[in-house]
Amino acid sequence: MKRIGILTSGGDAPGMNAAIRAAVRTALCSGMSVVGIERGYQGILDRSFREMQMRSVSDIVQRGGTILRTARCMDFHKSECQDDAIAKMRAEGIEGLIVIGGDGSFRGARALSEKGFPTVGIPGTIDNDLSYTDFTIGFHTACNTCLEAIDRIRDTSSSHDRFTIVEVMGRHCGDIALYSGIAGGAEIIIIPEMQMTFSDIKKDIVEASQKGKTSGIVILAEGVCGADELMRFLQRETSLSIRATVLGHQQRGGSPSMRDRVLATQFGYHAVNLLKKDIGNRAVGISKEKIIDLDIGEALDMPRKFRKDLYKMANVVSQ
Ligand code: ADP
Ligand code: F6P
Repeated sequence: MKRIGILTSGGDAPGMNAAIRAAVRTALCSGMSVVGIERGYQGILDRSFREMQMRSVSDIVQRGGTILRTARCMDFHKSECQDDAIAKMRAEGIEGLIVIGGDGSFRGARALSEKGFPTVGIPGTIDNDLSYTDFTIGFHTACNTCLEAIDRIRDTSSSHDRFTIVEVMGRHCGDIALYSGIAGGAEIIIIPEMQMTFSDIKKDIVEASQKGKTSGIVILAEGVCGADELMRFLQRETSLSIRATVLGHQQRGGSPSMRDRVLATQFGYHAVNLLKKDIGNRAVGISKEKIIDLDIGEALDMPRKFRKDLYKMANVVSQ
């Protein structure tokens, strides 16, 4: 392969730029040329192409967001739009594509591969919801962002003898809540994987108070319910002082952590080395500290992973 394309798609994640930088420079060093495609799959349909050079990716390793912009493109679900995208990429001389995004973006990548256009997926999403890889780009940074907020909220919660519900992102996945909850010493972690009822949560918070905790942090994954709804329930049902905070899109921004930068660089480097050997339809990931790749379809079909051991541990150490 002599010419490849690269795009970012779906929700942005800190570290996407580091992956773009690594992929562009690895490809150029291997004698391949690179086309940057703006705004995800929409950018292929709009022919939003730009030639990437060594200096196009200078000064971005430390920047959050994505210099290629990102988008959600509903048309790309249609087979005829995927055919149109392949035709437009071929007309530009693009022979293979790197897609940096989450599971939705990977479904688009799989569709292109099934139609004979070699595509490699790099997992870029703060949610960490792709089962085939231990970690996705952006997850580590997003957890650190949550942690900073949790630490601040704990200061004011303890001054006021208050329990504060902190709602974090993750879509249907509880990993941001679980990891930031453990690191932030949360009293209660509520995630979709554990299916707690409101009365279970009430029981836990009342027990914490009876055991002598005068304040605490309740981490709530957005996939369970809204923080406001839970706050109103607990205010009604208990005599405790309860507040709620939704961390929102700040979790998606900011300078990537060392871990996300290194991971993104490894993924970008590995993805290009696959395309260089004309290998497509692969999803790049990390498993037990080793960079791996597997069939995109297999990667998408893997059953959801959930670190129940970590959840169990969190409940013990928060007593
Ligand atoms: P993420 O990649 O972060 O999970 P989305 O689920 O919003 O984000 O998907 C990003 C984009 O990927 C969508 O807007 C669409 O362009 C494309 N996509 C998602 N699902 C499919 C699918 N089943 N077939 C083709 N393209 C898809
Ligand atoms: O997939 C990443 C994510 O940030 C989720 O955690 C969240 O549910 C969603 O995207 C928010 O999407 P939007 O950018 O449309 O607000």
